[in-house]
Amino acid sequence: MSRKTQVAIIGAGPSGLLLGQLLARNGIDNIVLEQRSAEYVLGRIRAGVLEQVAVDMLEQAGVAERMHREGLPHDGIELCFNDQRHRIDLHGLTGKRVMVYGQTEVTRDLMDARRAAALPTVYEAENVRIEGFDTARPRVHYEHGGRRETIECDFIAGCDGFHGVCRASVPAGAITQHEKVYPFGWLGLLSDTPPVNPELIYVNHERGFALCSQRSLTRSRYYLQCSLDDKVENWSDEAFWQELRRRLPAATAAELVTGPSLEKSIAPLRSFVAEPLRFGSLFLAGDAAHIVPPTGAKGLNLAASDVGYLWQALTDHYRGDAKGLDHYSQRALARIWKAERFSWSMTMLMHKFPENGSFGARMQQAELEYLFSSQAAMTALAENYVGLPMA
Ligand code: APR
Ligand code: PHB
Repeated sequence: MSRKTQVAIIGAGPSGLLLGQLLARNGIDNIVLEQRSAEYVLGRIRAGVLEQVAVDMLEQAGVAERMHREGLPHDGIELCFNDQRHRIDLHGLTGKRVMVYGQTEVTRDLMDARRAAALPTVYEAENVRIEGFDTARPRVHYEHGGRRETIECDFIAGCDGFHGVCRASVPAGAITQHEKVYPFGWLGLLSDTPPVNPELIYVNHERGFALCSQRSLTRSRYYLQCSLDDKVENWSDEAFWQELRRRLPAATAAELVTGPSLEKSIAPLRSFVAEPLRFGSLFLAGDAAHIVPPTGAKGLNLAASDVGYLWQALTDHYRGDAKGLDHYSQRALARIWKAERFSWSMTMLMHKFPENGSFGARMQQAELEYLFSSQAAMTALAENYVGLPMA
């Protein structure tokens, strides 16, 4: 069967769902195709810190109500080094704050809004293929419930994540990919325990990085730097809590409330950018276009700003101004590269890199000591953490 839409959106992660919602609000019809089930998409645990720019976008999409009710605005973060905690006063330094609200909840709110508006979404779409995006007649083919389907559209939005089909469909000679892989991963644990501190604590410790984060006043998310060949099965809950306590100052460790894990997983750390982001009528956005290591919590926020630029460009197009589409790639990449720089620098600052030797360790120490002694340096970090403006 063949059906028509204006924008075919591949992927029902936060990028695809947010774009779909925003486009629909401007009267642009779209179909979302997702290879997994809705339950699977909601089962993925990701970061939970939203910049004001992302909050604004969720408001524009009409899905911010629960976030404002249940999310936790944070005015600061802490960095811990040499067993000493230092607060970065995000609000005092920048006048802005961040919103702690899990990506799972953002996705759930977007799914609910899409269902309520009866916008078409196909979950468990198999063998999704895109075709003709270098012509005036792009098409998307897929299978669903044993039937072959085709969507004819004006544009394809590649919101299908790092392993998706859209970026992989671009001829190798038309795309440049920049990548850095870090020699460690993050072991994460989610538990229904109160957070050890009202604000997030990023820890640089001899034994490796740790992060104390949270989802609510009763749900915590903690991370430990681990080796790339480590396995979740090697970590009992007790081993995780014990290692976390060792990486925290004694007084903080004494306050840590532990409990059974709801989820444990290991994620590798990667920086990645594809350029450009437009190939005829195909546009890449979110993790399909770039990956950041999680240290600055920029993944979801960058996805939201990409989608914001793409939404504006497509809206302009349907209102008779094609220039926005020409500028999408350049506008989005300018913000992406700055967030890549920040995520990379936070990663380099807070993790252990034994392969960088004693000189590398001393450079890290000097940079942290400078940071804590300089209002200018703290302001620069805070300005990036709360998110750069969307130009
Ligand atoms: N066909 C259809 N859907 C696909 C395909 C395919 N061939 N390949 C992947 N997908 C789906 C995935 O199953 C996933 O649900 O695309 C979706 C992409 O979602 P995400 O990976 O969450 O990417 P994105 O929406 O860009 O969100 C970016 O997610 O990973 C975090 O740090 C990242 O917070 C950031 C955010
Ligand atoms: C999280 O809560 O999962 C989280 C928070 C901040 C980060 C990364 C992850 O920098």
